[in-house]
Amino acid sequence: MNVKSTNIEWHKTLVNREMREKLLHQKGMLIWFTGLSGSGKSTIASALETRLHDIGRLTYLLDGDNVRYGLNSNLGFTKEDRVENIRRISEVCKLFVDSGIITIAAFVSPFKADRNKIRNLLGKDFIEVYVDCPLEVCESRDPKGIYKKARKGEIKNFTGIDSPYELPDNPEIVIYTQSNSTEQCVNKILNFLSCKRQE
Ligand code: ADX
Repeated sequence: MNVKSTNIEWHKTLVNREMREKLLHQKGMLIWFTGLSGSGKSTIASALETRLHDIGRLTYLLDGDNVRYGLNSNLGFTKEDRVENIRRISEVCKLFVDSGIITIAAFVSPFKADRNKIRNLLGKDFIEVYVDCPLEVCESRDPKGIYKKARKGEIKNFTGIDSPYELPDNPEIVIYTQSNSTEQCVNKILNFLSCKRQE
């Protein structure tokens, strides 16, 4: 990345993360969903957010399509643009986590190196959830009709078709949306979170 910000200085605030977490009775963290388009990331992320909200947790869900309407509307799907997409989102997520919020992110995020950068940025606060679903199943779901367009060549650089998806090496959680219900997938994540809290 070309760093252009010079002559700047980090300002420490008087109210810090620990104080905010105490106020909220929770710990900030980032639950990062990665997987093919149509694998179920947004569905599971949204159902998870609802369950957490219902038990009184403060959450915020950042979703691929939504972020591309605003903050990242100037980015497309070339490798370079996807790297920048994930870089900006990682920095936003870091701020959310610092605010004490349980932050949930759902992005295709196909490149291992980018996901590892987030892991390095967030450390122990980063929980990678791989949404495992075969390409054929994602393609048969095709809720937005985009696989059809990608197969016809109307959309270029489409993940799984003419752009790669690099499998996570060591995700904290893997969910299987082909064989498990939304509820089962969400329960698996909630179980992981409650074990983590007891550590
Ligand atoms: S990422 O690769 O940069 O992480 P992101 O999650 O923000 O992708 O956006 C993916 C969404 O954009 C998909 O759900 C899909 O609806 C849409 N999309 C449009 N073009 C593409 C493409 N070429 N590859 C993947 N998704 C695309």
